[in-house]
Amino acid sequence: MRNPLPEHVLEALRLYRKEGELGDSHCLMQKDPDVLAAEMGIAKWIREGGLNADNVDGFLTPYLENSQHIHHPGYIGHQVAVPHTGSAIADMIHGVINNPMAVYEMGPTASVIERVVVNWMLEKAGWFHGPIDGFEQNPENGAGVLTHGGSLANLTAVLAARAHAFPNSWREGTPQNLGVIAPAATHYSLARAVSIAGLGQDAMCYAPVNTLDVLQPEHLEATYRTAIDAGKQVFMVSANACTTATGLYDPIDEVADFCASHNLWFHVDGAHGGSALLSAKERPLMKGVSRADSLTWDAHKMMRTSALCAAILFKDQGSMASTFHQDASYIFYGEDQIGFDVGPYAVECTKSALGAKLFWVLAIEGEAGMGTFIEKQYEDTRKFYALIDAQDDFTCPYRPEANILCFKYDGVDGNAAQLALRENLLARGNFYVTTAEINGVRYLRLSVMNPLTTLDTVQNLLDEIRLCGDAIGS
Ligand SMILES: Cc1ncc(COP(=O)(O)O)c(C=O)c1O
Repeated sequence: MRNPLPEHVLEALRLYRKEGELGDSHCLMQKDPDVLAAEMGIAKWIREGGLNADNVDGFLTPYLENSQHIHHPGYIGHQVAVPHTGSAIADMIHGVINNPMAVYEMGPTASVIERVVVNWMLEKAGWFHGPIDGFEQNPENGAGVLTHGGSLANLTAVLAARAHAFPNSWREGTPQNLGVIAPAATHYSLARAVSIAGLGQDAMCYAPVNTLDVLQPEHLEATYRTAIDAGKQVFMVSANACTTATGLYDPIDEVADFCASHNLWFHVDGAHGGSALLSAKERPLMKGVSRADSLTWDAHKMMRTSALCAAILFKDQGSMASTFHQDASYIFYGEDQIGFDVGPYAVECTKSALGAKLFWVLAIEGEAGMGTFIEKQYEDTRKFYALIDAQDDFTCPYRPEANILCFKYDGVDGNAAQLALRENLLARGNFYVTTAEINGVRYLRLSVMNPLTTLDTVQNLLDEIRLCGDAIGS
C-alpha cells in the first residue's frame, strides 16, 4: 500500500533536499511558463481534482525538478536562506494548526513565541534588558513586531517616523513637503514605502554614496541643507546595514551623530546584515545601532528561516504604539482580555506564526550556533574573495564585509558580456549567481547563503565561467 499523501510528499522532499545538497540536481533549469504549466498539468488538476498518493508524482516531480534548488552548493544567488529543518517544521505545524495571531486568542502560543523572539532581537540591538520571557512591560525597553518581509518592516518604520514627527498625519494626512534622507543605494522598498505613506517620491533626498554604494556621512549635512533650502521638512534618515548590491555597511555610528545633531529619526535597514549582531566578531559592523530609533532585521535572509520572517524593532516602545490608530470592534475591544494583541502594531491583519520559524531554528542551534553560522558565512565569503582576487583574469572591486561578493571575468568585454556570461552559466545548470551594477560596471554577484558552498565550489565556478567566456568571445 502507498503512503498517504502527506507522508509521500515528505519522502519526496527528503529526496529532493538530499539530491540538491549532493549537487545531483541542477540549480535551475529555466523553462517557459506555458511549458511548466503543461508539465505540471495545473489546469487539469484545478478543473478535475483527484490528486492523491498514487498520482501525485505526476505533479510533484515536475514541480520540484523545475524549482530553484537552493540546497545545491552551486546556489550562490539571491539573499534567500537555505531553510533550516526547524523552520520547515514550524511551517508545517502552522499549516496544520493555522493560528494567525493578530489577536492573542487566535494564536496564544504563537503570540507568546513572537513576543519572546522579538525581545531576544531587541536585546541584540541593545533595546531590551531583563528576562526575554518576562511579560511585565518595562517602559525602558523597546518593542517590535514581526512582519511578512523587510519591505513591510521598512514601511512600518516610515509610518512610525512620520507619526513621531507629525502626530496628526494619521487623521489629517501627510504634509506635502516632507523629506527622508537615504543613501543613493537604498533598497527600493524604502523609497516605495515613502510613496505608500503619501509623502511622494520627491520626498526622497538621496545622500551620496562612494563608488561601492557606501553612504558618505560627511555629505549628509549638505544633503540636509539642500533639502531644507528647497522647503522640505526632513524628519528621517535611513542607513543600510548592509547595502543590497555590495553587502557593505554604512557607518551607522556616524549617521547616528548626524541624526542626533538635527533631532532626526534614525532608521537602520538591517534586513540582510542585522544578523551580524549575533556574532561577537562581526558585531562591530553594526556599531552605533543602539542609537537608532528603528531597525529592520530579516530572519529569512541570514537566520535560516523560510520566507518570510522579518522584524521591525523600535528603541522606544511608544513609537510602535503610536504608529497605527485603528478601531475594529470585531477584534480590538478593550484591555481586560488575557494576553496581548499584535494586530494594532502591524500592517497585516491576518498574520502567520512568523516567530515560530525563528524559534525552531534557535531552539535547535541555540543563539551561539546562530552566531557561528553567521561568522562562517562571512568568513567563507572572504576566503572566496581571496581566491577570486588572486586570479589574473578576474577582478573583485572590494573586500567583502558580509556574505555578498561581486567580481567580473576579464576574459570578456563590457557590461553586456557579463550578463551574457551569466545567462550561459545559468543555462548549464550547475550554478545560480546574480549580477549587480556598481558605479556603472556590471559584476557577477554571489550571496553566500548556503553552508555547503565551499572553496572547491567557487573554484569550479571560476572554471565554468571561463568556459562560458570562451563561448562568448571577447
Ligand atoms: C537592505 C534591504 N532592505 C530591504 C529588503 C527587502 O526585504 P524583503 O525582501 O524581506 O521584503 C532587502 C531585500 O533584499 C534588502 O536587501
